[in-house]
Amino acid sequence: MEGQGYPSKPRLLHWYDQNARPLPWRKNPEPWPVLLSEFILQQTRMEVGIEYWKRMIKRFPTVHDMSISSLEEVMLLWQGCGYYARARNLYKLSTVIASRDPPIIPSDPKELEKLPGIGPYTSAAISSISFGIPVAVVDGNVKRVYSRLNAIENPTPPEVQKWANVCLEEKRPGDWNQAIMELGATVCTARAPKCGECPISSTCKAKLTENPTKYPAPKRRKSKKINGHALVISSPEGVVLSQRDGPQLGGLWGVPITEDPNGLQELCSDYKIGSPERVGEIHHAFSHRDFHIQVWKIDVLKGGISSASVPISRLDQRILEAAGCVEI
Ligand code: ADE
Repeated sequence: MEGQGYPSKPRLLHWYDQNARPLPWRKNPEPWPVLLSEFILQQTRMEVGIEYWKRMIKRFPTVHDMSISSLEEVMLLWQGCGYYARARNLYKLSTVIASRDPPIIPSDPKELEKLPGIGPYTSAAISSISFGIPVAVVDGNVKRVYSRLNAIENPTPPEVQKWANVCLEEKRPGDWNQAIMELGATVCTARAPKCGECPISSTCKAKLTENPTKYPAPKRRKSKKINGHALVISSPEGVVLSQRDGPQLGGLWGVPITEDPNGLQELCSDYKIGSPERVGEIHHAFSHRDFHIQVWKIDVLKGGISSASVPISRLDQRILEAAGCVEI
């Protein structure tokens, strides 16, 4: 890695010591609170993530507490946080740990990676932050800092990992990893970097260019547009809901949906109902899928359950709102 720029360790660590956000799990970075925070932050913004973390840690102060609860309860607490595979993996992980002797979260990154929902990023984060093991994390923030420091538009993942391994501060690996991530999250941000506040700007190649935000080149991600229909079958007993599958909403409950723009009739005949009334339209974006859903409603005499009794996604909440069927 000749010719590459590396951050000054004393400067970045000093900056981190002065500027680290007071995240609640940083005071006492025990493995379970840190693991929980990293699961949540994998795909959730910090401000929202902190609220979910507080809610989960209050109900499940230890991994054992989660293992003796139920998937249903974990899903209910996770409701609204998205990417529900994380909640299923978290619950599964808690039961795997609880079945061991001793029932503790391992410190070795390779052992951590064998657990459900833990990949190289999460294992390195837990290992370094909670156990002080010198392994370098790479996330989107680290990639951005690397790419700007070296003015490289399209860095490859192995290249970023190699760089992170070389610049790791082995005496304080957890703080070091968090310092680079923190810099990326609060100063070296994607759209509006604050180069004037950056502790390592004197060695930054992107800063010398007219536009540091060119680095890294944005990934073009095309969302798939889905024109579908949702059917709200409502009775005095509740609404017809069933459990969804798939990585994004699997395990949550929802109303009947078709992703086929011409599939309304088939959906109605599957549920043996006549002509529903169109009550609204929802636009709901997931990371790769843009849903445009026509919402249809029909009143029936019997059947269905209370939507407050099961975990449902934000998408289904919005569908039920459009149909005037929200229960608190
Ligand atoms: N994003 C995810 N985990 C983080 C951490 N520990 N510090 C800063 N940003 C993060």
